[in-house]
Amino acid sequence: MNMYDLILRKREGGTIDTKEMYDMIVDYTKGRIPDYQMSAFLMAVYFRGLSDPETLDLTMAMAYSGEVLDLSDVGGVTADKHSTGGVGDKTSLVLTPLVASCGVKMAKMSGRGLGHTGGTIDKLESIPGFHTELSMEEFKDNVREHGISLMGQSAKIAPADKLLYALRDVTATVDNISLIASSIMSKKIAAGTDLIVLDVKTGSGAFMKKYEDSMDLASKMAWLGKRAGKNVEYVISNMDQPLGNMVGNALEVKEAIDTLNGKGPEDLRELCICLGSLILTGTGKAESMKKAADMLNDAIESGRAIGKFREFVKAQGGLAEAVNNPEMLPESMLIEPFYATCDGYIKHMDCEKVGLACLILGGGRYTKESVIDLSVGLELKKKVSDEVKEGDVLAYLYANDKEKLEDAREKMAEVYEFSSTPVEKPELIRFISRD
Ligand code: URA
Repeated sequence: MNMYDLILRKREGGTIDTKEMYDMIVDYTKGRIPDYQMSAFLMAVYFRGLSDPETLDLTMAMAYSGEVLDLSDVGGVTADKHSTGGVGDKTSLVLTPLVASCGVKMAKMSGRGLGHTGGTIDKLESIPGFHTELSMEEFKDNVREHGISLMGQSAKIAPADKLLYALRDVTATVDNISLIASSIMSKKIAAGTDLIVLDVKTGSGAFMKKYEDSMDLASKMAWLGKRAGKNVEYVISNMDQPLGNMVGNALEVKEAIDTLNGKGPEDLRELCICLGSLILTGTGKAESMKKAADMLNDAIESGRAIGKFREFVKAQGGLAEAVNNPEMLPESMLIEPFYATCDGYIKHMDCEKVGLACLILGGGRYTKESVIDLSVGLELKKKVSDEVKEGDVLAYLYANDKEKLEDAREKMAEVYEFSSTPVEKPELIRFISRD
């Protein structure tokens, strides 16, 4: 395998065969191909694309570049969920204990937040004592004993993707559907669960702003997973406005606790019931989406779901009392209202800017090294289609720093667009891979 030839061939629109793709990934992971050559290859891929067989080869080569988890000994059917990320997306915090309380073992590796989107691992770390740096054995033991574990993305899983993703990040080659699909699915395939459920976001706060691109990404990921022998289901969900009302780490944990107690926002519950129903039907625990939804709603109403969350928090070293007393989670010193300056109906929210306001408050990361303030964020009091009067509170800003608060306020002033006539409530779930 000669890297120069592969770059040249891809640049001219040619194809890379299976052996060449595997050799290239092995050599790059071992440091035998320099970053400048891999960057050139990625840019050629960006412009020329990868065929489906090439995308599958890349996915499998990255999946097998490190450890591939064997979960066959955890006793039962296992599932994982992946979201392409958004603002206020605390779905994993609700979904994993909810589904685990219905008997499916949830084994999930999650990332940290970067830029305007949050990460599940940061959110969980706002629970005092909670640890996410588990060994593979601890992770599997928790899945076996408690039916649920969440850990940070292990360096042993798909190390080739870790290297390539970091390189794509600095060479303007992230936003290519084949590269994104292979990156995500390589990690999910290596993580070893029987079923993978994908929540692909679409809209102003999502990675993919256009519905057609979200659909392409979802169907490509499902195809890759199925070719790797996995059961894959997916939804396309709206990210034109934040999910739920809370944005920010500890604030989102509080909202997740409310939802598990049956008192959360409707949109978050709807999405969790939908994703959970895909998992229960996909793993054979329920015969239909309707029966699955009944089981999940019952788990919330009976208290089993919040009980499972408490058990999970305790198992990973977290302060379980904080689940009953969310005021024990980090709290900001300042809570300031953000007012509407006109009458009307909210027609549009720039969701990415809500995420950026949270970032400005200190609730997110500008770079991988940034230290985040777990207590800050936003509480949205009005969302798309709501009628507002001048002077109504649109949101509360939770802050610890006056200057950041004023900067976040300026960002929030760019978020809302109003209409003088009524606006229809946007549809949250745009597509479900099974009915
Ligand atoms: N998330 C990933 O894991 N990989 C990508 O390429 C993009 C988003």
